[in-house]
Amino acid sequence: MAVSRITPLTICVTSGKGGVGKTSFSVNFAIALTRNNSRVLVVDGDMGLANVDVLLRLSVKNNIRDIMESGADPRQALVFARPNLAVLPGSSGVPEMVALGDRQQARLAGFIRAVASDFDYIIIDTAAGIGSSVLWFNQLADHSILILSPDPTSMTDAYALIKLLSRDHGINRFNLVLNFVRGVREGNHSIDTIKSVTQRFLNLELSHLGSIPEDKAVRKAVLDQAPFIEQAPGSKAARAVSDLAQRVHMLI
Ligand SMILES: Nc1ncnc2c1ncn2[C@@H]1O[C@H](COP(=O)(O)OP(=O)(O)OP(=O)(O)O)[C@@H](O)[C@H]1O
Ligand SMILES: [Mg+2]
Repeated sequence: MAVSRITPLTICVTSGKGGVGKTSFSVNFAIALTRNNSRVLVVDGDMGLANVDVLLRLSVKNNIRDIMESGADPRQALVFARPNLAVLPGSSGVPEMVALGDRQQARLAGFIRAVASDFDYIIIDTAAGIGSSVLWFNQLADHSILILSPDPTSMTDAYALIKLLSRDHGINRFNLVLNFVRGVREGNHSIDTIKSVTQRFLNLELSHLGSIPEDKAVRKAVLDQAPFIEQAPGSKAARAVSDLAQRVHMLI
């Protein structure tokens, strides 16, 4: 099914491998984007195990599943975490939300479109894996940010996702964000490796948008349910994410 895109700049945050920092990045990157007076919507696309609301300590009345079931105005599900930052919360522990059918996907796209004009950016935090919803969200977005860590399993999962999206879904532009970086040399090696493999076997040029160091401030903020960019603005991770937000116009 052809997927038509959504008009505010829509960015899908994805990875293949789980636990590499997609949700932490999505939330903190979204906050960094609001600092230029932009209005940002975070869609919790991890619809089986949603947790954007947990990271922002939000209380949620209606989530994506509730509005899809009731047909209510999707604005009723939006939770404003900050004046310029809204969240469309996902559902948790609901297996049927993990792989939406064509009709449900079209409905969800309709809901996102219905609120889209209120925002400058839409950030979609996806689930781990290569499930149908992950692939669909990448097609819905203008840009895909692929989060990976230097761990070889993260590299192979990211490669598998890139291969699938380019081969079967016509997506050929990927922006890499390397997370959990412990040193410049390790970081460069990881980026060089994935770039050369995708160039050689898939004939694709990846863009390296930037890297985020491994930082205790991130774990602490998660435990406190506070975004690290606000709780520890001077931390290395916060500065890296702020820099990434400044480079949003460089997304391919
Ligand atoms: N740069 C970092 N430094 C230290 N810890 C980090 C960093 N980025 C993420 N983490 C930690 O890694 C864990 C996983 O992060 P997060 O939930 O954002 O990953 P995810 O990719 O969204 O996971 P999932 O695939 O399960 O949705 C969290 O405990 C978070 O604190
Ligand atoms: Mg997540």
